[in-house]
Amino acid sequence: MKDSEIERLKGDLQATIRELSSTYEELSLLYKLSEEFAGLSVEEICDVMLSEITSLINVELAVILFWDEESESFLLKKSKGILDDSFIKGKLNSLFYESMKKPRPTVICHIKEKIEPFDFPVRSLLLIPFKGKKRLIGLLLVANKRDADEFFSGEIKLLQSITSLAGVFIENALLSEQMQEFLLGAIKAFVKALESTSAWTAGHTERVTEYSLAIGRLMNLSMDDLEKLRICALLHDIGKIATPNEILNKIGKLEEHEWREIRRHPIIGSDILSEMTQYIDVIQCIRYHHERYDGTGLLGLKGEQIPLFARILAVADAFDAMTSDRPYRKRFPVEKAVSEIARNAGKQFDPEVVKAFLKWVKSAYNIELPQSEVHS
Ligand SMILES: [Fe+2]
Repeated sequence: MKDSEIERLKGDLQATIRELSSTYEELSLLYKLSEEFAGLSVEEICDVMLSEITSLINVELAVILFWDEESESFLLKKSKGILDDSFIKGKLNSLFYESMKKPRPTVICHIKEKIEPFDFPVRSLLLIPFKGKKRLIGLLLVANKRDADEFFSGEIKLLQSITSLAGVFIENALLSEQMQEFLLGAIKAFVKALESTSAWTAGHTERVTEYSLAIGRLMNLSMDDLEKLRICALLHDIGKIATPNEILNKIGKLEEHEWREIRRHPIIGSDILSEMTQYIDVIQCIRYHHERYDGTGLLGLKGEQIPLFARILAVADAFDAMTSDRPYRKRFPVEKAVSEIARNAGKQFDPEVVKAFLKWVKSAYNIELPQSEVHS
């Protein structure tokens, strides 16, 4: 074999190795991203997408636009880099709409004239439409590469792969967010119907949900857990559907057998929901939301045996019960209710939950707490 032939084969081999290693890198990046995207919300997927893209390509601006079928226009979803007001408020020019119809990305480099709706000079622009399995999701816009005047084919291909992958995950996340909204809507309607049978409980669920979420946020619960906590709070008294109205609406003191009837509602509620097997956390929370931290409650669970959501709900529920009028008593002033909850930290309530509750109530009601309560 001639030397020149060997040189040519060596060159071919090196090119193949380079190609293989870039394919390998691309594959491992996509694998890493598909693991990262799983289970994330739409907002979170967009954040990961933008930070990955801007770490791969040194650009001044990266923007994700979502296609809105109803208004037939693009809506700004997320951006990284300086984005002026005119872009946000301005109408996108036809370039964006044309690029969305094309199967391939639109690349424009060495731009001299001004491009609407940008206020600043755009030198290079890359537009990549991305789809889910069924429909167009949006458009990725990348502008002004810092270290070169044009986008290379390898970079474009990589961004295409990232947006294609993200498109499928975003479509799924949008679908699950829609399902979640539908579920919440149905639950709220159901709760409203339940509360309408008693003037005394109207608005209770909504307020308990608000207080529980405020406590949950201060305890640094994840978005996922906060959503579950919201469902728990909305459904916590669902078991009262089986409590006779004459007991729920009774004016005056309740008899012992009537209390016994009311106390059954956590068990009845969790039994009603037992078919919702994918919401086992919610069922458990409802079953144990009247347990006491010191273990002296109806079912005898103690401390952290009681699910966290139930421990949070117990405080939120008690606060609303004390600060609302009841057929048999007038509401307590907020300060008295807060003091009662603080006094019961470690007895009826989880001290950590009480700590978060006190922090919230102090700022929400602008009240000063005695030092002993702040540190309880
Ligand atoms: Fe309850």
